Amino acid sequence: MTARPRIVALPGDGIGPEIAGAARELLDRIGDFEVDERLVGGASIDAHGTALTPEVLEACRAADAVLLGAVGGPKWDATDPGAPRPEQGLLGLRKGMELFANLRPVRPSPALLDASPLRPERIEGTDLLVVRELTGGIYFGDRGRRDGAAFDTCVYSTAEIERIADVAFRFARSKVTSVDKANILETSRLWREVVTRVSTAHRGAALEHLLVDNAAMQLVSRPSDFDVILTENMFGDILSDEAAMLTGSIGMLPSASVGAGGPGLFEPVHGSAPDIAGTGKANPLAMFGSVAMMLRYGLGREPDAARIESAIDRALQGGLRTPDLGGSATTEDAAGAVLEHL
Ligand code: IPM
Ligand code: MG
Repeated sequence: MTARPRIVALPGDGIGPEIAGAARELLDRIGDFEVDERLVGGASIDAHGTALTPEVLEACRAADAVLLGAVGGPKWDATDPGAPRPEQGLLGLRKGMELFANLRPVRPSPALLDASPLRPERIEGTDLLVVRELTGGIYFGDRGRRDGAAFDTCVYSTAEIERIADVAFRFARSKVTSVDKANILETSRLWREVVTRVSTAHRGAALEHLLVDNAAMQLVSRPSDFDVILTENMFGDILSDEAAMLTGSIGMLPSASVGAGGPGLFEPVHGSAPDIAGTGKANPLAMFGSVAMMLRYGLGREPDAARIESAIDRALQGGLRTPDLGGSATTEDAAGAVLEHL
């Protein structure tokens, strides 16, 4: 007999609790899970004055997997550098759980080819994976203010680049496109050097280098040419939002954050969408896709993951459209439609 997987659920802020509620319904249908719900982000700031308490981090580290909704909102937006910010909760989890590899698959559902602002013939055949470095770079470098100026520093070590490049090559089927700004940044020049070296241990996949500005352009002009896009933390943040639009809406993009063998963290790429929080308009499909990634990469339950993904595709083929996709289905309608196809 296998033990019940233990999942820490962190609904967070904005639409987070709504889509996390839908995910609970989905999990109840898929199997027997122990779900431990905790606070993170703005919700945790309101209750404890900090976006991530040591107890919650400990619970996450001890779980089999962590499922997160979203963090942030205007209520906690302040430019005061001393004020706690919801995003610190997410960054604290990523760092504290050593989740250095963020996987963001971009695979437009055939039913949504004409939901994207891009022409269907451009998008057709797109099936790419953004592998974003998640615990280094400018997100975690020294920052501050001094003499009326502000600074953020970007640092990457050889070891940090090696381990993320290795992940990218392990996921590559044909090619790794490494994205940097090596014409300007020293971290990017080291990045390029190390990625090139790592590639020699993975002869099965080709390696190309693109500068980030060019990559942003190529991503919308020839998306189906990409296989794995490997990039550093901030470039990955920006490019993955851009890539999301290939699927029709950022409400469709799931993600998995994994590391050196501990529990992974699974979350939709979209944020807390405070403008639609509480209206029932949130698209739960990115969250459902994240549940599928949790089952696949976090809990070793590939068949369950595939079942969910195929139910999502079939619900969309059946006409399911939330407002972000031009329709009027509510969060509950969307969840119901997917459950029906399970
Ligand atoms: C993301 C988000 C986060 C990031 C924020 C919420 C901290 O935009 O996961 O892409 O910048 O990494
Ligand atoms: Mg982002």
